[in-house]
Amino acid sequence: MILAVKDLNVAYGNILALHGVSFDVEEGEIVTLIGANGAGKSTSLRAISGLVRARGGKIMYHSQEITRTTAHNIVRMGIGHVPEGRKIFANLTVAENLEMGAYTRRDGLEAAFERVFKSFPRLKERLKQNAGTLSGGEQQMLAMGRALMATPKLLLLDEPSMGLSPILVQEIFSIIQEINRQGMTVLLVEQNAYMALQVATRAYVLETGRIVLSGTAAELRENPQVRAAYLGRAV
Ligand SMILES: Nc1ncnc2c1ncn2[C@@H]1O[C@H](COP(=O)(O)OP(=O)(O)O)[C@@H](O)[C@H]1O
Ligand SMILES: [Mg+2]
Repeated sequence: MILAVKDLNVAYGNILALHGVSFDVEEGEIVTLIGANGAGKSTSLRAISGLVRARGGKIMYHSQEITRTTAHNIVRMGIGHVPEGRKIFANLTVAENLEMGAYTRRDGLEAAFERVFKSFPRLKERLKQNAGTLSGGEQQMLAMGRALMATPKLLLLDEPSMGLSPILVQEIFSIIQEINRQGMTVLLVEQNAYMALQVATRAYVLETGRIVLSGTAAELRENPQVRAAYLGRAV
C-alpha cells in the first residue's frame, strides 16, 4: 500500500469538510475520487499534501505516518500535487515554472527536465515563453510537469480536465495513463466522472465529506446510482 487514509476529519473553522474519510491506493494504481462541487475532493488532496491539517484520523504513506508532516517534507518524501486551477506562475517562463517544481532536489535537474519533456514535448518548445501565454491545456501540462520535476512516487491530480475542450481532456487523460504505465501511482480527483472512470483502476464516490460508494472503476461505471448522479444518460 502506497497510501492509506483512515477516518480523516478536516474542518475549516467550525465547518467539517471531511467526516471520517477512508480510502487507500496501491502502488501502480490510478485511483479516483469522484464527487460534485464541494464534496471534499480538494480537501482530501490538501490534507495528504499537508496543506490543511487533519482534525482527526491518520494518513499513512509507505507505512509511515504523515498526518502531521510538513508540506515541504511531504514533497521530499515523494508526493507531488497538481492543484485545482493549475496555479502556475503566469509571469514566469515555462522553464522557471518547471525549476520551481524541482526546489527539493539537490541534483538530477537535467534528467528531470528530460523526463518531463518526454511526457510533454510541447513544453520543450515553449521553455522561454511566459506561462501566462500558454493555452489552458498547455498550462495543465505545465502544472503536471512542474510536479513531476521532483520525481514523485505518488501524483495527486486535482481536476486536470477543468475548463478544457473535449479534445484536450482526451489528450490530458492519455498522458495521465502513459505516466501511469511508466510506473507512477496516481490519485485523481475529478468532477468529470465519465473520464475518471475510463482511466482508473478503482474509484471512491465522495458526497458532502463522506465516502458513499467504492469499487473497481468497472463496477462503478455499471452502478445505477453512479450512472444517475454522475454519468447522465449519455452513458
Ligand atoms: N478555504 C476554505 N475555507 C472554508 N471552507 C472551505 C475552504 N475550502 C473548502 N471549503 C469547504 O469545504 C467543503 C469541501 O470543499 P472542497 O474540498 O473544495 O470540495 P471539492 O474539491 O470536492 O469541490 C465545501 O463545503 C467548501 O465550501
Ligand atoms: Mg475541488
